[in-house]
Amino acid sequence: MGGALWNNLLRPVLFRMDPELAHELARWGARKAGTSGAVLSLIRERYSGRQTPGIERKVWNLRFRNPLGLAAGFDKSADMIPFLEALGFGFLEVGTVTLNPQKGDPKPRIFRFPHQNALVNRLGFNNEGAAAVRQRLKRWTDLAIPIPLFVNIGKNREVKPEDAPAAYRKTFDVVAPWADGVVVNVSSPNTPGLRNLQRTENLRRILEEIAEERERAVFVRGEGTHPVLVKLSPDLDDEGIEGVVEVSRELADGIVATNTTTDHSVIPEPARQRGGLSGAPLFARSTAVLRKVRQLAGPDYPIVGVGGIMDLDDASLKLDAGADLIQIYTGLVYGGPGTARSIIEGLAAEASARRKASLPSGE
Ligand code: FNR
Repeated sequence: MGGALWNNLLRPVLFRMDPELAHELARWGARKAGTSGAVLSLIRERYSGRQTPGIERKVWNLRFRNPLGLAAGFDKSADMIPFLEALGFGFLEVGTVTLNPQKGDPKPRIFRFPHQNALVNRLGFNNEGAAAVRQRLKRWTDLAIPIPLFVNIGKNREVKPEDAPAAYRKTFDVVAPWADGVVVNVSSPNTPGLRNLQRTENLRRILEEIAEERERAVFVRGEGTHPVLVKLSPDLDDEGIEGVVEVSRELADGIVATNTTTDHSVIPEPARQRGGLSGAPLFARSTAVLRKVRQLAGPDYPIVGVGGIMDLDDASLKLDAGADLIQIYTGLVYGGPGTARSIIEGLAAEASARRKASLPSGE
C-alpha cells in the first residue's frame, strides 16, 4: 500500500512540481509529522514496523540498528529528524552546515533526469548556519532520538582557501558537541575551489585543526569516539584517492565515498545542467572509488558507501564492495518514503538466509 500511494499519487504530483519546491513541500510535511506522536507512530507502523534482526552494526563504538543511513543534503538544517527516524533509517547525516547562514546559488538549482534515475544539483550549501543547526541538534538530543546523528560541515563560499581550516574548526566547535560524529565535506562541486581542499597538504591542515578542537570539546551527545570522517569526490584520480586515504588514516576515523560527480556524460548534451550528478549513473564510479579506498585503507578502516543506491541489489553490492555502512539520497527521491524499509527488510532477509545456509545441516 505504501508503494501504491507513492507510485500512483504522491510521486506523480510531486514530480510535476519544481524539484526544490517538491522538496520544500515534503520538508513541510515531515516537520509537521514530526511534531505529532500519533502521526509518527503511524509512519513507524507503515515504514519501519518490522523487526530486522541480524543487520545491526557497531562502528566506532556506536550502535546502528541497520547499516542504511540518509546521505547529507536532504535535511540540511536538521529539522526533519523524528520523521526520518520513523522511516527506519539506521543513522542520519544532516547538513552541509556552514558557520554562517548562506542562501546558495540562484534558483532553479535542482534538476530531475527521470530516464536516468538521476538528479543534478547546484544548491551551493544553502543552509541556516551552524548556530541554528546547533539549536535543533540540542532538541533532538533532549528528545532522545535513538539513532546516531552525524553532522556534515563545509565552508562559506567567501572563505578563502587559506582560511578554510579555521572555518572548519569553528563550525566543528559549534555543532559537533550535539552530534555523534562529524563529516568533513571537501568534495561538493558547487563551492568554487572546495574540492582542492582534498589535496594532501590542505586536508591535513583542516583535519589537524579539527583534531585539536576535538581534544578540547565537551561532547553532550553520544558516547564513544565522536568520529570525524572525510567525504570524498568520485572524480579523484588514483593518486588523489591515495593522498586522501593516507591523511584520513592518520588524522580521521573514516571515509564517506562518495559525493556527487561532475561527469554528466549520461545526460544528453542539450539537457545538461551545471552541478553535481547523483543517482543511478553514479553507482559504478562511486563503487569503484569505494573499492579502491577499501583496498588502500585496509580491512578495519570504517567506510560509508554512498552513490547511486536505488534498491536492495545496489545496497547489497555497495556492502559487498567494502562499505561498513551505506547511505541514500536520490534513491529516496525516486523510490519514495518506503525505500528505506524495503532495503532494510531485504538486507535482513539476506542476512537470515546466509545464517541458515551456514548452519550445519540437521541443526
Ligand atoms: C547532495 N549531496 C550533498 N552532499 C554533501 O556532503 N553535502 C550536501 O549539502 C549535499 N547536498 C545534496 C543535495 C542534493 C539535492 C543531492 C541530490 C545530493 C550528495 C549526497 O549526500 C550523496 O553523496 C550523493 O547524492 C550520492 O548519493 P545518491 O544520491 O546517489 O544516493
